[in-house]
Amino acid sequence: MSSRNTTTRIKTNDAVSEDFISLKSEETELILEARIGARPQVLYWGPALSHSPPEELKLLSVRQWVHGSAAIDVSPSLSNELAAGVSGPPGFIAHRSSTDWAAIFPVTEIKRSASDSVEIICVDENTRMRALYRISLNPESHVIEATTSITNLGDTPITIDWCSALCVPLERRLTRLMAFTGRWALEFQRQEIPNFRGSYLRENKSGRTSHDNFPGLIALTEFTSEKSGTAAAFHLGWSGNNRVRADRHSDGRAFLQMGELFYPGEMELAGGDTYTTPTLYAARSDHGLNRLSQHFHTHVNTSVLDTRIRHKPRPVHYNTWEAVYFDHSEAHLMELAEKAASVGAERFVLDDGWFGARRNDRAGLGDWWVSPDVYPNGLGPLSQKVRALGMDFGIWFEPEMVNPDSDLYRAHPNWILEARGVEQVPVRDQYTLDLTRREVSEHLFERMSAIVSEYDVAYIKWDMNREIHHPASAGRGVIHRQTNAVYALMRKLREAHPDLEIETCSSGGARTDFGVLKYADRMWLSDSNDALDRQHIQRGASYFFPLNVSGSHVGPRVCHVTGRTLSMEFRAATAIFGHMGLELNLLEESEDDLETLRCAVDIYKKHRMLIHEGDFVRLDESEYLNMIGVVAKDKREAIFSCAKTAGHSTTLPGRFRFAGLDLHRKYEARIIWPTTSFSVTAPSIVEAADLMGNGTTFSGEALLVHGFQLPLMYPESCIIYHFKAV
Ligand code: GLA
Repeated sequence: MSSRNTTTRIKTNDAVSEDFISLKSEETELILEARIGARPQVLYWGPALSHSPPEELKLLSVRQWVHGSAAIDVSPSLSNELAAGVSGPPGFIAHRSSTDWAAIFPVTEIKRSASDSVEIICVDENTRMRALYRISLNPESHVIEATTSITNLGDTPITIDWCSALCVPLERRLTRLMAFTGRWALEFQRQEIPNFRGSYLRENKSGRTSHDNFPGLIALTEFTSEKSGTAAAFHLGWSGNNRVRADRHSDGRAFLQMGELFYPGEMELAGGDTYTTPTLYAARSDHGLNRLSQHFHTHVNTSVLDTRIRHKPRPVHYNTWEAVYFDHSEAHLMELAEKAASVGAERFVLDDGWFGARRNDRAGLGDWWVSPDVYPNGLGPLSQKVRALGMDFGIWFEPEMVNPDSDLYRAHPNWILEARGVEQVPVRDQYTLDLTRREVSEHLFERMSAIVSEYDVAYIKWDMNREIHHPASAGRGVIHRQTNAVYALMRKLREAHPDLEIETCSSGGARTDFGVLKYADRMWLSDSNDALDRQHIQRGASYFFPLNVSGSHVGPRVCHVTGRTLSMEFRAATAIFGHMGLELNLLEESEDDLETLRCAVDIYKKHRMLIHEGDFVRLDESEYLNMIGVVAKDKREAIFSCAKTAGHSTTLPGRFRFAGLDLHRKYEARIIWPTTSFSVTAPSIVEAADLMGNGTTFSGEALLVHGFQLPLMYPESCIIYHFKAV
């Protein structure tokens, strides 16, 4: 993959020299106008250009003067500073004790240390502030990363109230927004706003990424679909408070902003200090939303995740939570471990309840010592048994929290985040520890590291189970520093234990973002193991996250969260399209279901490299089908999941067209799941094309263009197609 990046110095008609900076990949080009002395701006972000000099683009962008508008063209900039005169909400608001708020950032220097990145430095002598924009375009993923750093060049402190990681102009035709919201146990629900005007604003002050305000937004045209059309997507890689906004100004222009949401006075910079925003990730596509997601998936795997497990087959988990909750006993867990290994699990994760007085969620949190009441012999026998069965041993921690009823809190009641004089809002009977205090982070590191070493722990499920209200440390709002302290603790643990893998969990999916994925290897997407809800949750998450990081478990027959009863076939098929795990009491399952589960685990193992390393595609949604698939990079193989999520209103089921296959190849098509007959009535295409037997060969073209008849299947069932090029 090649990239061509240039900085051109050109002459304009009025003989002013201007700098245009191009960051370019094979698919995408970002052209910035950054002229010394002028405010920098995005001139172009679109498909890579071959014959269009930037001066032409500039001329083509000349603004129409209209009655009532400024006599000069007030251009937008990378910060749309408050005092610059740009219409609409500013991207930067700061002041020095209520003065010096009229910052304007003209370019003073441009640095190109690498061909795919640029640093633009802007100094405002007037307010004595400096803005440094770091922008790069990844040539492999085509994803842009951007941050803004603000330095206080004065002697007295400045307070930053708002600093967007960048102000990104949205193309005029991107009139529709796709946003992501949800709640506990139903994360990543999509919300569409057609023809948006004014402001679309989401603010998250939960102290974590949140269930309800995922910092991701997609802007698309009226007609963009999964397979075609233009779209631009944005994500803030940050696990703390945030603000996401898209504004269409009265003049019709629109801008995207994402950044941290601060408590009053939280971001104060002393003279010489610098604040850097979290990273904004941006991708665009002219080939539908699938291409956009593929860009993000590639980026996560090449630039966000740690490389040490990049091509490691993701092991099948067995997690104890929904099997035993707080009811731990060594003998029972050993039995479960045996059963888990017998169905093919490769990692055993001991969830909440193994430590201190943690026999329920009201006590013991923070006391990271193995409970002698439930484990009189420590965790040695259980962890050794797990390894003897051929599995890794993993364990649950919730490091940032403490129950008031705990030895830790009794010893250090001042270790928590609290605003003086304000009562804590009770949430799951727990308080948040102040990780910005060195002694707190050091204590947690010591405890966690000791457990990891003693029991040869391969994996930590890192939980965080409450929103944080009025978090103050020494009186000051502190989520920015607390979030960085969490990252630092994760980093330190991984450095001390280089093979240790970490899962990010926060009551399910409340801490899923690219920021935490720099330190974690897997995400627990949702506490709902209801496969039907999971179909929607996983589809929503797939716009940003690849399947290899999306934890998905086979839950109990009757879902503990929704009460819905679902077949093993459906539950297992849903978990295969993610990082598969099991989270149910295997000792209560029927032999038939265990056998079905064993087959599903085999299918996952056989196809996991394809599922995790191929190109992911979604088929356009219908009211009763969720179809997704993964096509190998060389298009020689593909696997598609077709979940029937509801009944259809016509007597015959529909026909659907696959995506991502090679038009010019022939593929042998088979149904590999379920393994027994599922078609409600026969004959159907299943028999006609012998899909459960030897299969039939079709051209990629027929599968893509003409489409496939769906067999009549029950709602809440799922079939998996496999295609192999012949
Ligand atoms: C959270 C997690 C669950 C489980 C419990 C344990 O809710 O999301 O998966 O670990 O905590 O208390």
